[in-house]
Amino acid sequence: MIFRQLFEPVSGTYSYLIARRRGAEALIIDPVLEKVDRYIQLLNDLDLRLVKAVDTHLHADHITGLGALRDRTNCVTVMGEQTKADVVSMRLTDGDTLEIDGVDMDVIYTPGHTDDSYSFVMGDRVFTGDTLLIRGTGRTDFQNGDPRQQYDSIFNKLLRLPDETLVFPAHDYKGDTVSTIGEEKRCNPRLQVTSIDAYVQLMNGLNLPNPKMMDVAVPANMHVGLSQDAILQRGWAVTVDEGMKLVERSDIAFIDLRELRERQRHGEIPGSISAPYRTLKEQIAAGGAVRELVRSRQPVFYCAFGERSAIAVRAARDCGIDSARHLHGGMDAWKRANGPIKPV
Ligand SMILES: [Fe+2]
Repeated sequence: MIFRQLFEPVSGTYSYLIARRRGAEALIIDPVLEKVDRYIQLLNDLDLRLVKAVDTHLHADHITGLGALRDRTNCVTVMGEQTKADVVSMRLTDGDTLEIDGVDMDVIYTPGHTDDSYSFVMGDRVFTGDTLLIRGTGRTDFQNGDPRQQYDSIFNKLLRLPDETLVFPAHDYKGDTVSTIGEEKRCNPRLQVTSIDAYVQLMNGLNLPNPKMMDVAVPANMHVGLSQDAILQRGWAVTVDEGMKLVERSDIAFIDLRELRERQRHGEIPGSISAPYRTLKEQIAAGGAVRELVRSRQPVFYCAFGERSAIAVRAARDCGIDSARHLHGGMDAWKRANGPIKPV
């Protein structure tokens, strides 16, 4: 197992790079923009292929590395479904599994610090974002924070994990790197309250100044999406209205790039062919299934929000598949327009 805790000193942020082994797929949690070169170097050093970049929540104190990592590695950007970020490739909900090759994480919705805060459990450890910090908890006084929800997230979700579970937070300002659930239960001063009301009172009385970067970081982090407009202008996209007219046509193939869980949760466009995004390179290479398919049918790639499919169109055209297009706005736009959906 490869597990690296990486530190960004200006905002005191911890990021986590995880992979099963050298040469495998990798995932990064809470990357910071200023450190993207370092992450890329480390990925190269360890011969890793970054496939997912995940933010535990919309950060107010630093600019996320999600967009830059997607632009440089074509990885999938991931956040919770409540996020206000314009476009992330994949949105998670409570009870989901966050997966890469050989690594599974249980996804827990832990609102309170923000309304889009998530924690991820991987075996003996939990990534708590800013919900539970070492000897602290994330502030609850902006970004739809709510001390009541945070109490519930901490006491009824995180503290129910086994006491020996390692706690890896998104921040530390004192130099601590890791704790455990049991240690935080006993020693975290914010958790020594006797009731939810006492916790709410404690949190509401903190009177903290706003983070220095907040006015820059929050707007920047809300605009991490890949612009799909350039692709639309080139004629490489299909709008949902156009797409609906193509569904029945035998010379068109809708190619679904989403993972199985996303397809099961949201359904698919009738007649779609599944080709998960992580297999795209092989699928469009000589001898690949998509490559074969485009001999007789024009491919229309689609995904959840149009980000993976926009990358796929460029990749397919780079490989000489000149008929490749994608569904602008993805399944999200399709559903809003009441496009036909088949259960998976
Ligand atoms: Fe935060």
